[in-house]
Amino acid sequence: MKGKEIRAEKLNTDQFIQEQVKEIRKAVGKGVAVNALSGGVDSSVVTALAHRALGDRLKTYFIENGLMRQGEAKRVQALFAVQGIPVEIIPAQKAFFKALSGLTDPEEKREAITQTFYKDIFRALVDQSGAKVLLQGTILTDVDETVAGIKRQHNVFEQLGIDPKKAFGYKILEPLVQLRKDGVRKLGRALGLPESLFNRIPFPGPALAARIIGEVTPEKIRLVRKATVIVEKFLGDTDAFQYMAILHDDRVTGMREGKREFGRQIEIRCWDSLDARTAKPTRLSYETLEKMAGKIIRDIPEVVSITYNIATKPPSTIEAI
Ligand code: XMP
Repeated sequence: MKGKEIRAEKLNTDQFIQEQVKEIRKAVGKGVAVNALSGGVDSSVVTALAHRALGDRLKTYFIENGLMRQGEAKRVQALFAVQGIPVEIIPAQKAFFKALSGLTDPEEKREAITQTFYKDIFRALVDQSGAKVLLQGTILTDVDETVAGIKRQHNVFEQLGIDPKKAFGYKILEPLVQLRKDGVRKLGRALGLPESLFNRIPFPGPALAARIIGEVTPEKIRLVRKATVIVEKFLGDTDAFQYMAILHDDRVTGMREGKREFGRQIEIRCWDSLDARTAKPTRLSYETLEKMAGKIIRDIPEVVSITYNIATKPPSTIEAI
């Protein structure tokens, strides 16, 4: 399943689907395969593709890691039920918060999430289901950034010289690894997924933990999750590539109801980009920014400062950790 980049405009979706269905069937043989669906564009498209290849021999799980957006597990399960694809929700909040406890370094946080997914949760699911293969939606941009040492994406192994079979006890298939986000979206449309799935803004594997600077705690997740709902609501009808709320670690002095409050800071980011390799901040209107900030301050009393990121990628990156 390796090979060179296939650019979106060159992607022949029918041919790609046919080839990948064949490859997946060959790799899985008569057995079963598992995949974890986060509801992001890549994992949604891989789920649809693998389901086309394997039907009910594909077991799809949504890992409730406690780091997802509000209402996500049920929403994703319902969207896939319409596609005839059953999704089982696996509660795993405790394992993830335990692994993240006390960690502040971005790469250590990413590594803790990776290990919890692959060594702990997926391994148990593979064992229970008797599967030999895990399918996942790694794309070329994930590989590029990891190999370049910019950011360890949660789902990249072989390109770093890690053999998943040896490290975790199962094989990993990556049918999308020649594509970038625009190609994955084109494929999602061809597979008959609803636009609400294949045209969704990207969401990272480490989920809201990628948007918390410093230690990830249930309390900080609660704050950033609330801010995320507001940012996504305000910016949902822009053409931006991706938008998000980030919770800073340091507090600043503010005041509420005449009293000093050493409060939280939220940073809003909104990006124009084609494939996430480079990005520019969207020129949002000041009015939109003001209204969004007002809503965050009213709804989340812990927050006393809100900023908008105006740096480009590079040197910034899209997510905060
Ligand atoms: P960065 O922050 O590296 O993000 O500029 C580029 C794109 O990748 C997404 N992203 C991830 N996706 N696993 C993923 O599947 C990850 O660990 C991860 N980190 C970042 C990010 O949302 C953006 O679209």
